[in-house]
Amino acid sequence: MTDQPILIIGATGKTGSRVASKLEAKGVAVRRGARRSETPFDWDDPSTWAPVLTGVSKAYVTYFPDLAFPGAVEKLEAFTKVAVDTGLKHIVLLSGRGEHFASMGEEVVRNSGLPFTIVRAAWFAQNFSEGYLRDPILGGVLPMPGGDMPEPIIDIDDIADVVVAALTEEGHLGERYEVTGPRLMTFAEMAEVLSTTLGRHIQHVPITFEDFHANVAASGGDFVAEVFTQIARETLDGRNAYTADGVERALGRKPRDFAAFAQTAMAAGAWSAAA
Ligand SMILES: NC(=O)c1ccc[n+]([C@@H]2O[C@H](COP(=O)([O-])OP(=O)(O)OC[C@H]3O[C@@H](n4cnc5c(N)ncnc54)[C@H](OP(=O)(O)O)[C@@H]3O)[C@@H](O)[C@H]2O)c1
Repeated sequence: MTDQPILIIGATGKTGSRVASKLEAKGVAVRRGARRSETPFDWDDPSTWAPVLTGVSKAYVTYFPDLAFPGAVEKLEAFTKVAVDTGLKHIVLLSGRGEHFASMGEEVVRNSGLPFTIVRAAWFAQNFSEGYLRDPILGGVLPMPGGDMPEPIIDIDDIADVVVAALTEEGHLGERYEVTGPRLMTFAEMAEVLSTTLGRHIQHVPITFEDFHANVAASGGDFVAEVFTQIARETLDGRNAYTADGVERALGRKPRDFAAFAQTAMAAGAWSAAA
């Protein structure tokens, strides 16, 4: 391994912060890429891309808010061209399962000429503890569209472990790891696990995609709601209702269960009102 730092794009985010901490715990130097980092990085400002890429040979890349937003795939493509020019030797891309635009992003990386690893993730368990579902959970409800469609929800500490392995060990180049949790669960079953863990009832509330759109629009506006509703419709239509072996292939162990995630998050104070 070289002494060059590993670049983390999205270093203050849910997966990026974990990847950065885990790398530093192994003694690996990290360069954080976010808008207020020491070397700032902004997807909306291409002049920030070369400075953050210069002097690094490996990078973990997450796109914000999602590759389904207009212009995102084109920006990723332009970013990979800058990365080729600055001499990047390995890119690890976070992608989403069953998402049309995420697949396009994967193709961009595959065709970039950069050695790559793709980590194609299921729905994050931490959406409940650190994401947009934390507030509803605090209010005792889990409003979700998609009916009884099960999802193999994943603990993102597993995603971070896979990314760290890809960045620090041999044998992960050219792989596409489809990473899921160990079992399919309906959102009603997830609400039951959360109820047990939190020691109070969390009510699963089945909602329509139109309701979902209205909920997102209330805080994010119509356009953002349109994109996220399209993603929800795609990913909860049955195409993702199976488990995959990416965690086991990359790490040689099984993924963590949702119940273990819930206990760990609870112990860390994820659902205390002040968190
Ligand atoms: N949630 C899920 O269930 C799920 C499942 C599969 C895949 N994904 C994918 O996960 C990705 C998000 O990863 P994540 O959850 O680890 O991140 P996240 O928690 O959403 O954090 C976003 C990161 O992006 C940075 N950021 C925001 N705006 C930016 C900009 N204009 N330019 C540069 N950086 C910017 C933020 O840093 P600053 O604000 O500090 O700049 C932060 O570090 C998305 O592409 C999503 O599609 C999510």
